[in-house]
Amino acid sequence: MSAGEAPVAAGVGAPLVDTHGRVHRDLRISLTDRCSLRCTYCMPEQGNEWLAKSSILTVDEIVQVARVAAADGISTFRLTGGEPLLRADIVDVVRRLSAITGPDGARVQVAMTTNGIRLPELLPGLVAAGLSRVNISLDTLRRDRFAALTRRDRLQDVLAGIAAAAASGLRPVKLNAVAMRDVNDDELVELVEFAIAHDAQLRFIEQMPLDAGHTWDRDRMVTQAEILATLSTRWVLTEVPGRGGAPAARWLLDGGPHTVGVIASVTAPFCGDCDRLRLTADGQLRNCLFSTTEYDLLPTLRTQPAAVHDEGIDRMLRACVHGKLPGHAINDPAFLQPARGMNAIGG
Ligand code: 5AD
Ligand code: SF4
Repeated sequence: MSAGEAPVAAGVGAPLVDTHGRVHRDLRISLTDRCSLRCTYCMPEQGNEWLAKSSILTVDEIVQVARVAAADGISTFRLTGGEPLLRADIVDVVRRLSAITGPDGARVQVAMTTNGIRLPELLPGLVAAGLSRVNISLDTLRRDRFAALTRRDRLQDVLAGIAAAAASGLRPVKLNAVAMRDVNDDELVELVEFAIAHDAQLRFIEQMPLDAGHTWDRDRMVTQAEILATLSTRWVLTEVPGRGGAPAARWLLDGGPHTVGVIASVTAPFCGDCDRLRLTADGQLRNCLFSTTEYDLLPTLRTQPAAVHDEGIDRMLRACVHGKLPGHAINDPAFLQPARGMNAIGG
């Protein structure tokens, strides 16, 4: 079956259930592949091939897709990039997405994963527009390391963004840290203490083979087991039950209330509970970070008559869900890294 054919006879309004029984409720929308940083695990220093401007979805196109997705049971939209705050129309995107309601009449949730740099100026407008939550990336608290890791000397701007998030009403604020051997693995305790001091929840992420430069090396990855062993030298960790479809497993620190999370995509994959789909900035639906198949919405959105857009989007969402494999195969020797880097897929 080619991408785009309807595998199941269901229409707008039916839930998005895959062939393994997983119901999809979360759509990650990448708004741009551009970024103000160049994290080594994501983008090359130079020579990145940017998506063509003409292929980037407009806010109207994003909203069309999101409305159909919400009718089909998607209840959370997560805005990612690249860096989503580089979109000039970001406040408009948030305002229009957060006005969407699901089949039960409830408003959808709109969350954002950002590098934090533009939060001080933009967060008040985003909150007023209906943003529900923010996740901010923070891998190190040391200026020299930050500059080496992101190839930009902007730690102070990120810290100002975290302060803006802490001062806003949005909760919980989550901080994401990719743990890397000999890069920041001696800072894990400090990062958690920083998060606690800023009323935020830290989540460590195992490094995944998603960098555009294809430099991922299993030996440089810090595993969940190592992260927990390091944190155990400082806190008593008790696992929080009832994770549901969430990628992060969480542990109470010294009995709570503070927690730490670990997203162990490599050593403890959580594909069996995955409820996520992805939409790239250039209109490609993906059923997994690691999939090598994309479902192109541009022909539907740009060449079909408007009257049939909803039906066409719905058909493509169902084809994408139907094609979803039971799990990724990072640990399989035959694993093939997707052609796109993380900045062009959306985290
Ligand atoms: N492995 C793990 N996490 C990554 N991120 C970006 N690239 C990778 C990778 N190769 C993280 C970012 C951000 C989130 C969107 O994904 O740090 O927090
Ligand atoms: Fe930018 Fe995020 Fe990629 Fe870093 S990981 S370069 S902050 S898109």
